[in-house]
Amino acid sequence: MNMKKTMSDRLMVALDVQSAEEALHIRDTLADSVGWLKVGLRLFVGQGPALIAQLQTSHRIFLDLKFHDIPNTVAQAIESAGNLGVDMVNVHAGGGLPMLEAAAQAAAAFPSMQLIAVTVLTSDTMPQEQALALALQRAKLAKDAGLHGVVCSVHEAASIKALCGQDFITVTPGIRWGNQNSQDQQRIADPKTAVESGSDYLVIGRPILQADNPKAAAQEAAAMMATAKIG
Ligand code: C5P
Repeated sequence: MNMKKTMSDRLMVALDVQSAEEALHIRDTLADSVGWLKVGLRLFVGQGPALIAQLQTSHRIFLDLKFHDIPNTVAQAIESAGNLGVDMVNVHAGGGLPMLEAAAQAAAAFPSMQLIAVTVLTSDTMPQEQALALALQRAKLAKDAGLHGVVCSVHEAASIKALCGQDFITVTPGIRWGNQNSQDQQRIADPKTAVESGSDYLVIGRPILQADNPKAAAQEAAAMMATAKIG
């Protein structure tokens, strides 16, 4: 992790909205308070590659579609993502080693695109101990297959770094602070704890999208990240 990155460079906003107009409005409102925009299922299914092209003029793009299919199909989807010019894409580690290897092989043709794997969803209700064991097992699988990192909860990030190396990227959703509602998320943590636990990128959706002042909420998250005590 390059520590010269600013905290906002490490913030990914989940653009979980319906229309291109809403997505572009949030993009313009947040401007440089966040470095990344995460396009997930709702927005991509509705708006597709045309919107990606508009968003990538100002921000780095994480295409969060969590591919999980047979190896050949996933490899083809990774190639399509690479052709869009996105900066990060993901698959589900539950797809197994052959699928992860096929994905890594397809991603190798796009050296500027990072390929990461979802370990255990932060919304999963399994006990924390079980989530940690499964996340570690899946992170190791992703590392062995040649992926760049994983999506995990803050609670697993430090152990994953210890097992897979400090350069193995950890992207953590489930970020909440103050008395924010956890909604459907189970394994949550605040921005300061996320940075202290070794998270490279923090994914934040509703705490920013549903805030009275989304830009202030993003700046508040970055300020909390900056208070982290590291090393
Ligand atoms: O609104 P909230 O901050 O909970 O949004 C979290 C975002 O991160 C959502 O877009 C969700 O799809 C995504 N995500 C997640 N857990 C994962 C992988 C992705 O919450 N393991």
